Amino acid sequence: MLILAIETSCDDTAAALLENDALVSNVLSSQDEIHTPFGGVVPELASRQHLKNIEPIVREALRRGKTDLDKIDLIAVTRGPGLTGSLLVGFSFARALAHVYSIPLVGIDHLSGHILSVFLNRNEKQPLFPYISLVVSGGTSAIYLAESFTKFSLLGRTRDDAAGEAFDKTAKLLNLPYPGGPHIAEKALTGNPKSVTFPRAWLGKDSLDFSFSGLKTSVLNYCRQYSEDKIPLHDICASFQEAVVDVLVEKTILAAGKNGINTIVLGGGVSCNNRLRRVFDERCRKEGISFFVPEPAYCTDNAAMIGIAGYHKYRIYGPDGMDEDVYSRSLM
Ligand code: KG4
Repeated sequence: MLILAIETSCDDTAAALLENDALVSNVLSSQDEIHTPFGGVVPELASRQHLKNIEPIVREALRRGKTDLDKIDLIAVTRGPGLTGSLLVGFSFARALAHVYSIPLVGIDHLSGHILSVFLNRNEKQPLFPYISLVVSGGTSAIYLAESFTKFSLLGRTRDDAAGEAFDKTAKLLNLPYPGGPHIAEKALTGNPKSVTFPRAWLGKDSLDFSFSGLKTSVLNYCRQYSEDKIPLHDICASFQEAVVDVLVEKTILAAGKNGINTIVLGGGVSCNNRLRRVFDERCRKEGISFFVPEPAYCTDNAAMIGIAGYHKYRIYGPDGMDEDVYSRSLM
């Protein structure tokens, strides 16, 4: 079965082609340059850019897969969560193609894509269900129990900022470019993570929820004692990153213990972070937990993961009706 997957939930226009669950082509157009001057994604600019990009990106995915629309057996498209204007561009485009070419359509939850994106790693051992999934991106920080390719239960989520949002907002107040995560990670390489003890919001001994907004405010307050040119940027970045990593790792391991699960899988843009990967790896080894993380290209937003989720959803539930709509807030 040849699957065309489309993803436009935020600021990346992406299309991919899969033969069942095997990736054939994967194309993405980033809008980082457009949003960088504003220090974050501007929703209207994102939608307009999707409108420009969607057709060429889908064409390119088909061209790289040496195929055409009349060979496509299924279209999988992100329905939400995300920016409504962005979602509508990809969703309307997918629905129009499905109508014109009489192709079955499945709407996919972006988070299910992140939960399953690890299956795009072709050369490695793959995780077995059930597993604990930590999804950490610019829009979400949540822990799920993944019981199968289509059954996910929410165990905990952020009460305010997502982990990626905390990286991006902290980077902005440190005058680093958007998206801030990779810039903070890079500065942190030569900083001392123990130089500042930023607060960790545990929210109670057994809580699997997150809160990152206080951390960002602590960084702001800490910086106030310095004039702008004297701020110990590298140490602050390393200490901030360590505070985020500590909470993500410990709560995910707690979730595994509480549910008697011995496999942890990461997903979402923040799982590109090398310090997060290393600490998870070390802690999981110590706890006897198997640990999996997608290749960096599949951590950040991409259409390939929507294709994987689409393949399994269609295999089990068949196509969606043509009267579905997009949604901005998570339904999972
Ligand atoms: O999954 P993603 O591409 O988009 C959303 O669905 O939001 O994630 C983007 C987020 C941004 O907040 C970005 O700063 C963060 O992932 N990110 C990182 C790193 N690379 C990307 N955060 C920390 N360290 C990184 N190396």
